[in-house]
Amino acid sequence: MYDIHNHVLPGVDDGASGMRQSLRMLEGAIHQGITHVVCTPHANDRSGPRANELFQERFQELKAEVTKLELPIEIGLGSEIMFGADIEQTLKQPFATINGHGRYFLLEFPTKTPFEIIHNVVRASIRWGKRPVIAHHERFTLASQNEEQLRTLRASGAILTMDAGSLTGRFGKVMQKHARALMSSGHIEILASDAHDEALQGFCLAEGREEAAGLVGMVEANKMALDAPRRVWNNDDWPEVNLKQ
Ligand SMILES: [Fe+2]
Repeated sequence: MYDIHNHVLPGVDDGASGMRQSLRMLEGAIHQGITHVVCTPHANDRSGPRANELFQERFQELKAEVTKLELPIEIGLGSEIMFGADIEQTLKQPFATINGHGRYFLLEFPTKTPFEIIHNVVRASIRWGKRPVIAHHERFTLASQNEEQLRTLRASGAILTMDAGSLTGRFGKVMQKHARALMSSGHIEILASDAHDEALQGFCLAEGREEAAGLVGMVEANKMALDAPRRVWNNDDWPEVNLKQ
């Protein structure tokens, strides 16, 4: 499986606090059957060339450890960009897009962001030649209220993802219920762990895929944990979908 949203880079955000924790987290990922992990540190107030230097440096350190320990996992670098920063400028930095390919990037919003704002940011991203991958879309309840919103966002170029932990009940019953309904809508295209540690917020893509399979079937669940995130990893084109009613 490919897991494209995780805070596993040591000492840069609210994820892994140091190298030892990063490595314990990656062991957890391997245990889940994950073969590829993208490190997506928060790019909130860190967005310029200095942030790029820091993230690249930590990434190389982690990569060297993974190689030294011969861990059977590939790691890549991206970021999770919070709306509100100067997104267009941030996107010029190599760390900003997944694996530095300059196309797919992980985008998040404050939880109560209105649908219209999210829709506008998606359209702006497409104009800049980037493809927004919306992090944990289930948290944006004002933009995941009905089919029409989901279809509109996707038709505008957004790729909607869900945190595996929302489906497994990690964030409580209310979130789980909303996540299950959203998953059943068929508009979620990627599942990710959004791991922050090696315990309660650890890698959980296998459990998430299991839960998703119970709602939409194993074929679709595998697409969300393997085929679709692999496309992002490889910078492959996104398949056209017919979203007309
Ligand atoms: Fe995250």
